[in-house]
Amino acid sequence: MRNFETILITGGAGFIGNHVVRYFIKNWESRIINLDKLTYAGNLENLTDVEDDNNYTFVKGCITDTSFLQEIFAEFKPDLVMHLAAESHVDRSIVSPLEFVSTNVLGTVNLLNVAKDYWQKTQPEDFLFYHISTDEVFGSLGASGLFSEKTPYDPRSPYSASKASSDHFVRAYHHTYGLPVVLSNCSNNYGPNQFPEKLIPLMINNIRRELPLPVYGDGKNVRDWLYVEDHVLAMEAIAQLGRIGETYNIGGHNEHQNIELVHQLCDLLDEKLGRPAGSARGRIEFVKDRLGHDRRYAIDSSKIQAELGWRPLVQLREGLSKTIDWYLENTDWLEHVTSGAYQEYYQRMYAG
Ligand code: NAD
Ligand code: TYD
Repeated sequence: MRNFETILITGGAGFIGNHVVRYFIKNWESRIINLDKLTYAGNLENLTDVEDDNNYTFVKGCITDTSFLQEIFAEFKPDLVMHLAAESHVDRSIVSPLEFVSTNVLGTVNLLNVAKDYWQKTQPEDFLFYHISTDEVFGSLGASGLFSEKTPYDPRSPYSASKASSDHFVRAYHHTYGLPVVLSNCSNNYGPNQFPEKLIPLMINNIRRELPLPVYGDGKNVRDWLYVEDHVLAMEAIAQLGRIGETYNIGGHNEHQNIELVHQLCDLLDEKLGRPAGSARGRIEFVKDRLGHDRRYAIDSSKIQAELGWRPLVQLREGLSKTIDWYLENTDWLEHVTSGAYQEYYQRMYAG
């Protein structure tokens, strides 16, 4: 089993990244370096409970900045890079695709290049570049079938095209230069600290505030939902035991149509907020569909289950209930995020 002295996590202030940072600080002896640009999606309020830990260092910077990355590698000498930094929201990618090319494609190649130079120069005994990606690279499924690691890539949104491109570059760096890499492609995550532009936190926030609940198209698009802490456990298994050069699909075995999921959220929140049954459902509005909206994603995760013994532990109802409780207990976080206050404070603190 691999062990690492220093883990460089990119995008650690984002939704999944903050859970990764917190998990590794609490469960590993390693030094954790969180490198994040603090875009609108990066929020250091996600990490206030661990920010004073002796093993934790935050560095603000952009993965497209070569000299900055070179300094980070020279100073901290990471033996594991967990690369999560990305522009991650499909709707934004439809409006501003170039930002996705810049961070997800150019940023990833820049990081690969700096990592490769560092690895070639210093030849550390165990070095691993772990690239975190999405099931959206495989395209869209019909009513049946699952994405496996062998499914051909067929990205259909600017977001998934940029992530597919980054995946190809990671594999190319392995085949061309021998850089030790591992990849995973995961289904839709949900849980605490997710920015309320994504379906589940957006619905929770709008139900809470008695706002309209916008469901795209006919609401019958299907996503496979995974609780974020289950994703973190999968990442830990892959970092420790994943075979070099391999890809692992990670999924929740929790396929639901969007409308079914929204109904569940409505009913759970009505109950938790003590409102009359059915009141939230009454605010559902079917709105204009997302351009090029992928119909169905579903993951075959038998490879990671068989090779690494991972499987999802949190059932959807339990995960949704925990997630809702977190948002209801952290209305300050939601208010800061929706007002933008979280960014002004931390951007001032880490200016320069
Ligand atoms: P997120 O948008 O919540 O967070 C992204 C983080 O990256 C933010 O903290 C942001 O500040 C940082 N960042 C963005 N551009 C940067 C740059 N140029 N330099 C440095 N930092 C930068 O995203 P997330 O939902 O936490 O996703 C994390 C990773 O997991 C992404 O690579 C995403 O493609 C992948 N993924 C996400 C999901 C999901 O459901 N959220 C599913 C599968 C895979
Ligand atoms: P999203 O959370 O944006 O994740 P992704 O597009 O990466 O799967 O969306 C999940 C599903 O919910 C997707 O089918 C689009 C749909 N959706 C809505 O119906 N309404 C919304 O307001 C949002 C944000 C998403």
